[in-house]
Amino acid sequence: MSPLRLARRMARLGTETAFEVLVKARALEAKGRDIVHLEIGEPDFDTPRNIIDSACDALHKGFTHYGPSPGLPQLRETIAQYVAETRGVSVAPEEVVVVPGGKPIIFFAILALAEEGDEVIYPNPGFPIYESMINYVGAKAVPIRLREEMDFRLDVDELAALVNDRTKLLIINSPHNPTGGVLEKSDIDGIARAIGDRNVLVLTDEIYSRLIFEGEHHSIMSVDGMKDRCILLDGFSKTYAMTGWRMGYGVMRTDLAAHVARLMTNSNSCTASFTQVAGVEALRGSQDSVDQMCAEFKKRRDVMVAGLNKIKGFSCLLPKGAFYVFPNITGTGWPSKKLADAILDEAGVAGLSGTAFGEYGEGYLRFSVANSIENIEKALDRIGDWVSKNL
Ligand SMILES: Cc1ncc(COP(=O)(O)O)c(C=O)c1O
Repeated sequence: MSPLRLARRMARLGTETAFEVLVKARALEAKGRDIVHLEIGEPDFDTPRNIIDSACDALHKGFTHYGPSPGLPQLRETIAQYVAETRGVSVAPEEVVVVPGGKPIIFFAILALAEEGDEVIYPNPGFPIYESMINYVGAKAVPIRLREEMDFRLDVDELAALVNDRTKLLIINSPHNPTGGVLEKSDIDGIARAIGDRNVLVLTDEIYSRLIFEGEHHSIMSVDGMKDRCILLDGFSKTYAMTGWRMGYGVMRTDLAAHVARLMTNSNSCTASFTQVAGVEALRGSQDSVDQMCAEFKKRRDVMVAGLNKIKGFSCLLPKGAFYVFPNITGTGWPSKKLADAILDEAGVAGLSGTAFGEYGEGYLRFSVANSIENIEKALDRIGDWVSKNL
């Protein structure tokens, strides 16, 4: 075969390690090993029945065709109302773009806005796709370090020192993957002040906004004067256990929304039509399942954090949102990646190295609590046994 002449930019594209660890864990299972899966970030619950019924009904009613690139009008309208209610701002349907998952909003926003010579500030540790995409488009990725001493909220003074005339975009994420940190109202106000009147847009990733255990969700969109400077990312994957459906959305000024819709036309054409009908049901129907899921994640978080804090060399903060725990493992004396690999290979527990979320994730592991209490207890026993034999 002749050599593959890949475009140079592909060398700058990163990945999301969770998917690789999942493949490795499944390969171990295929060889007969029993693995507890705490690596992937998806609710283990089924999508609520009313949403599934709505999708089936939509299929029977003929929602099997292409739709408009930015989304079906009824879903854009519903999302506009939902965001207006939850963020306390007025939102027009033209400001909403429906896309296949929350992730494409990261992809499209960075593709549409950032290029060589631009700087994009992003949380580190943080969702790896931010850094990957900033590098891919040739912009400069400027990390803002999230520190355990600050409950993994960002330091507003440090942010102010990073913002300059080359800054095009700031990415924030609350509740935060991988740390479970939640920004407070004073943080959000401080972030808005740190940007000041510079022409900087904020990509605010609020995909976990409904999974909050302590306090409440504060969106920078709600801060006076910030709405038109924000690109809100939210979606259905985490809130309604719909990861495999691939549906999310962005809310942004209409001129940018038109460009993002053009990126949709060039890539996906549109998000699947029948899923969008079910999206209306998800937002308008009963929200009981969301509350039940959140209460269950909270119980699991408590079991996981209490258990980890009993293991030698581990110490773990109580995350305030999302469904991850991010224990500090510096007390083990092991580097994160080596420890994550050993815990998978030798103890049969799949988790992620903190470094899967950037260089400042060194010294930490990430475990998802999207698994039953029984399995979480099994994982804790296995890690505890492994540590007592090996450390
Ligand atoms: C912070 C964050 N943003 C966005 C996403 C993407 O979500 P989706 O599966 O809807 O594309 C994830 C998924 O893990 C996430 O953790």
